Formats: sequence, structure tokens, C-alpha cells
Amino acid sequence: MDFKTYYSNQQKLVEDFLKKRIAKKGISKVDDAMEYSLMAGGKRIRPILLMAAAEACGKKGYSFLPVACGLEMIHTYSLIHDDLPCMDDDDYRRGRLTNHKVFGEAMAVLAGDGLLTLAFEVMLEQKNVPAEVLVETVREMAMCAGNFGMVGGQGLDLEAEGKKISPEELRKLHAGKTGALFIGAIRGGAHLAGATNEQLLALTKFADLLGLAFQITDDILDVTSTQEELGKPIGSDEKNEKSTYVTLFGLEASKELAAKTIEEALACLEGFGENAEPLREIAKMMCNRRS
Ligand code: IPE
Ligand code: IPE
Ligand code: MG
Ligand code: MG
Ligand code: MG
Repeated sequence: MDFKTYYSNQQKLVEDFLKKRIAKKGISKVDDAMEYSLMAGGKRIRPILLMAAAEACGKKGYSFLPVACGLEMIHTYSLIHDDLPCMDDDDYRRGRLTNHKVFGEAMAVLAGDGLLTLAFEVMLEQKNVPAEVLVETVREMAMCAGNFGMVGGQGLDLEAEGKKISPEELRKLHAGKTGALFIGAIRGGAHLAGATNEQLLALTKFADLLGLAFQITDDILDVTSTQEELGKPIGSDEKNEKSTYVTLFGLEASKELAAKTIEEALACLEGFGENAEPLREIAKMMCNRRS
């Protein structure tokens, strides 16, 4: 099977699972706001990475859809909040108006809260995994999403607005706001699949580098892409005086750095065989992406 077919099959698995799970309604209109952003498309890269990491460790990725899709809910909540007027103040996401533009700010805050909370409920619905493995996986996921990870990185991102920060500070910011959920995805899949310590170490390094390359590319696309291709506004970083790889190093150096980072990431997978092919292909796709 070629990689394009593999990726769209995996996307379909994620879409179907999310659609079914979000159809179970709560008691208010918050549900509509949650569903609006969750089902707006998106690349679904994090759940697909989780499944690919499990495959690299010899297990079927689709058996871990509850944890994988829980992570996509965390990611979607982070986007809803990231777009709020008090954060990046953006009007478009995943090709449609942002959540607060449609439902109002207060509902958008609650939609994010709802998705974050539902994520943990869904992850704990995972079957066929020893309880202690699931607990450890979800504990790590929480850490990656929280103040040591994504939320912490978003905090650094806000603090760095309008300032000139060092390359080390920028690396830390990116590792937090974007790298941490990539680590959660890949370590999550590996844990669930019963990876060895050696595999976990290699995959953690891989995930960190992949997350970095992904965010450098996001910074580049904010300057070089179009809203039609991205599904979100370009020029958002400049508008908010963000610290990005492009502002610190320039466009060309950023492109080179993204490519070099992917090479380093791929080297981490040398000890893995054929089963890691999807992970390798996803990594290669990372800095050639247009959206
Ligand atoms: C956007 O993530 C936020 C970043 C961390 C750069 P994605 O580029 O994965 O967004 P979707 O899920 O495809 O919409
Ligand atoms: C956001 O980074 C990362 C998140 C944790 C949501 P950006 O602010 O650059 O993401 P986009 O470009 O709005 O998707
Ligand atoms: Mg942001
Ligand atoms: Mg943003
Ligand atoms: Mg961006």
C-alpha cells in the first residue's frame, strides 16, 4: 500500500471514531461548539503518529484509537484557546471561522474545557491494555499537555511576544507548545504497544525532533503559504510580534534547519525495521507539507 493511501485510511479511522464518540451529547449547547471544531478536519497527525509508533513496536495501531483520539481532542482544545482574542486572535481555523467567531468567547472557552475533559474520559475507555500500562500512558499524556508541556510552552510563547529571545529559549518554547504533544503521541503509542526501554528512548528523541521540525515548518508556512492552503490566516505571527524560527534565523536558514532536523529524526529510527516505515514516511512528509 502506498503511503498516501495508508495516511488517508488512518485519517478515516480517526474521523469515524471521533464522529461516533462526539455524537454522545451532554446537557448543553457546549456540545455543538465542541463538535464544530473537532469535526472540522485537520491533518490528524498526532493520533496517526500514536498509531504509527505502536506499529513500529509491532502492534496494530487501530487497537489504540481511544487513546489516539483522546489526544486529538486535547490538540483541538489547544487550537480553540490559541485562537481566542486574548491569545493569537485569529478568525479562521481548519478552513472555517474560529470557534469564538461562531459561538462567542465564553462558549469557546467552555468548548476547549469540554474537549480537554472528554479527552481523558475517552482515553480511559481504552480496552485490551493492562490497567497499569494505561494509567502510566494517560499520566504521561497529562504531563505532556500541561504546564510542563503544551500549556507551559503556550505560556512561554505569550511571554516572548515583542521580545528578542535566544535560540535556546525559542527551542524550549517550541518543545513545549508543539513538541510535547508529539512526544505524548509517540511515547503513548510505544507504551501501549509494550515497547522496550531502548525503543522508548529512541522514539522519544525522534518525537522531540519531529515536533521541532513541525513547528519550524508551521512558522515558515505562516509567512509563505496562503489562507486557502492552510485553512488559517497567514501573517498571524507577525501581527502578534511572535518569536519564531523565521524571525530569529530568517526563511532560508529555517528551511535548512527543518530539513536537517528531519534527517536527525530519521536517524533515531535506524534500529527499527520495516514496521517503522509509516513513521519514517510521516517524518519525510513533515517539512514538505503545504498545510
Ligand atoms: C497546528 O497544528 C498547531 C501547531 C502546533 C503548529 P496542526 O498543523 O496539526 O493543525 P491541524 O490539526 O492540522 O488543524
Ligand atoms: C500553537 O502555535 C501551538 C498550540 C499549542 C496550539 P501557533 O499559534 O503557531 O499555531 P497556529 O499557527 O495558530 O496553528
Ligand atoms: Mg499561538
Ligand atoms: Mg496561533
Ligand atoms: Mg503558527
